[in-house]
Amino acid sequence: MKAHVVTYGCQMNEYDTHLVQSQLVSLGADLVEDIDSADFVLLNTCAVRGKPVDKVRSVLGELRKEKQKRPLVVGMMGCLAQLEEGQQIARKFEVDVLIGPGSLLDIGKALESNERFWALNFRDELHEHIPPPPQGKLQAHLTIMRGCDHHCTYCIVPTTRGPQVSRSPDDILRELDMQLAAGVREVTLLGQNVNAYGVDQGARLAGYPSFADLLRMVGASGIERIKFTTSHPMNFTEDVAQAMAETPAVCEFIHLPVQSGSDRVLRRMAREYNREKYLTHIAQIRRHMPDAVLYTDIIVGFPGETEEDFQQTLDLYDEVGYDSAYMFIYSARPGTPSYKHFTDLPREVKTERLQRLIAKQKDWSARKFAGKVGTVQEVLVRGDAYTAGFLEGHTRGQHPTVVPKAVGAEGAGIYQVRIDHATPHMLYGKVVDAQGRPLEELPQFTPEAAALSSPLQML
Ligand code: 5AD
Ligand code: SF4
Repeated sequence: MKAHVVTYGCQMNEYDTHLVQSQLVSLGADLVEDIDSADFVLLNTCAVRGKPVDKVRSVLGELRKEKQKRPLVVGMMGCLAQLEEGQQIARKFEVDVLIGPGSLLDIGKALESNERFWALNFRDELHEHIPPPPQGKLQAHLTIMRGCDHHCTYCIVPTTRGPQVSRSPDDILRELDMQLAAGVREVTLLGQNVNAYGVDQGARLAGYPSFADLLRMVGASGIERIKFTTSHPMNFTEDVAQAMAETPAVCEFIHLPVQSGSDRVLRRMAREYNREKYLTHIAQIRRHMPDAVLYTDIIVGFPGETEEDFQQTLDLYDEVGYDSAYMFIYSARPGTPSYKHFTDLPREVKTERLQRLIAKQKDWSARKFAGKVGTVQEVLVRGDAYTAGFLEGHTRGQHPTVVPKAVGAEGAGIYQVRIDHATPHMLYGKVVDAQGRPLEELPQFTPEAAALSSPLQML
């Protein structure tokens, strides 16, 4: 069987795609890059906003047409699969395999079945399952918990992914050891709300460390870089900032979604914190890590958001001075409390606010990227950049970075880079040695140079 998996949505979905792909390979499938040559196409879907749902609908429409031309099995997994909305879409587009986020290990049974196969249970085995490490990659994801115990009024995730279940520290460390042995050097710990690790449905699990202690444990494993996402401000504690600061492998990078700067809106979102409490966390982070890179998520145009509420969000952006933000227009999702109880704002109001917020984000990002010029950053290089002769990677603070290849820095690895130029989205620099001296650059590849050295030119 030739299988192709398409991933939409968040890093959790990327991890789940990897898990399912590993299962498929162990069942004898070949993973193919080209969707046209696949006889099993699986869409790993996202349901958090309307747009990714529309995208899945249109891709399924194409696949239904394709099914009339050749033998093709179509599958759907991920958050949308768990919802009644997704199941209706699946019926309409004749989806053969439907697997909810708690039933990923049923993929084998699904492929054995000759008829339509739907699996929507939340199975405990999933939490103990350790997928094989990614091969030939310096970066890996590691899920430390699934589901979410919060009930933000706009969010469909507690419905699609169920209540929070933390994975055991033994399983986490075992998975990490396998990743380390496979050459992974940066791990991102994943969960809907990592700060609540080890406290499921309000009860602390015996033998489970706090998230801060888990960071310390992972930091002692020998992995060189640790990142994590996402944090909920409600469960953030100063101990996390302290663990980050005192554990060298933990990157000085934190993604702390605020969603809104207005207390009135935060209350209607049921976020369980207010602006003042949020700013206290920011102050704690800055106290322990003055140079921490801060990202956030913001929703604009939540039902009932006034111009004054929105101004408070803009003010908060300036007060924190975020390095960057993921910004979303509120999307009314069937099945959420805000969909049921609140009236959506007009589209023009929401898009106009988003434009103003994007302008603010661009302004701050440009300043923050420019501020890195002249500094030395540790860059994880993934491999060749788009331009020949250059490498691409990212800093501990997640800034995309490009460097020319140099002697001793010819491919993937972790290097020290002196930044000498910045745009609002990219840092450019040179790899330096321990004394800060630039390494000797390799001759850069240009089309002219290639033409000159081609055998045809020599004739
Ligand atoms: N509308 C818009 N944005 C949403 N998010 C979650 N639900 C919605 C929604 N209904 C955003 C939040 C969250 C991120 C993953 O997606 O900002 O942090
Ligand atoms: Fe959704 Fe809130 Fe849970 Fe995040 S914390 S997944 S926004 S319910």
